Amino acid sequence: MEGHVRTYAVTHLPGDGIGPEVTGVARDLVDRAGKRHGFTVDWRHSPLGSEHYLHTGEVLSDETLNDLRTADAIFLGAVGSPSVPPGVLERGLLLRLRFELDLYVNLRPAKQRPGVETAGADNLDFVVVRENTEGLYAGAGGIAHQGTSFEVATEESLNTRAGVERCIRYAASLAKKRTGKLTLVHKTNVLGNAGSLWKRVADEVAAEQGLQLDYAHVDAACLYMVSDPGRFDVIVTDNLFGDILTDLSAALTGGLGLSASGNLNPDKTGPSMFEPVHGSAPDIAGTGQANPAGAVLSASLMLDHLGEPRAAAELESAVDAVLARGGAATTQAWADALSAEVAS
Ligand code: IPM
Ligand code: MN
Repeated sequence: MEGHVRTYAVTHLPGDGIGPEVTGVARDLVDRAGKRHGFTVDWRHSPLGSEHYLHTGEVLSDETLNDLRTADAIFLGAVGSPSVPPGVLERGLLLRLRFELDLYVNLRPAKQRPGVETAGADNLDFVVVRENTEGLYAGAGGIAHQGTSFEVATEESLNTRAGVERCIRYAASLAKKRTGKLTLVHKTNVLGNAGSLWKRVADEVAAEQGLQLDYAHVDAACLYMVSDPGRFDVIVTDNLFGDILTDLSAALTGGLGLSASGNLNPDKTGPSMFEPVHGSAPDIAGTGQANPAGAVLSASLMLDHLGEPRAAAELESAVDAVLARGGAATTQAWADALSAEVAS
């Protein structure tokens, strides 16, 4: 046992639907791993989400946001509920957090796990680095002449050199730690303006870093992801392409229930935010059937980011060990099996 105990302030934002159930399991495992590896987590609670919005009218106030800035990390379950109009929480809470905290990388590993049937070829182990603050998600555009037959709706994709470059630089640094292979995914044959910027910056960074750079159009990347995923190691792409590709990669590796993500501020000037890729799944909330693996793997990414790689690896191995035995049927059965793996 080490004498000095490291402490991390983590804001737990369980949110809606199955969010509290799955993050509760992950949180216990983090505490167990902390005991073994000499750190503690000072958990703080954030009530944000649909209930809080319906009761107080707050989606995310400036004051709450400033509070969230003081944590070392944010651990989020899911937001979204049938009782709140679509977009209110997605844009007002989730995307606002990503933008305001400048979480410019959305890191989504895709890995074939033991005992899990894959939907495609079986040589799959890559990471998608999704740009997380720009592109079509930035909110530029609008509607004019609404309600007339001349109504026009535009969505503009914003791509700044600085935004593209910092995302590609992060992906390049990750590629260097893995196999050294970086693939840019875009649609340069049609989206020539943004495509040109992404391609030029990727070429520059890859040359500077001595990395092999591959390129795939996004439609072809979907095909390769199913037919020959072994060609990918680190994929870097824009916000919308990354959103779509990572649902595909999730489907190929056992579904959304097993998929993890980190919304990263790689410069560590503020907290990063970790969340399972799945949503609030209101249809199964409260039934005890939610799979907490995606949340546990997200907690593993969080521990790695906080500087606890051994504890992070332990959580991931625990998920793999349970999967190798066929997984578990209920949230509680998952919790029991995982905590047996992470002995405290
Ligand atoms: C995701 C989700 C979000 C996104 C939605 C809920 C805004 O689909 O995290 O992938 O599009 O980024
Ligand atoms: Mn998505």
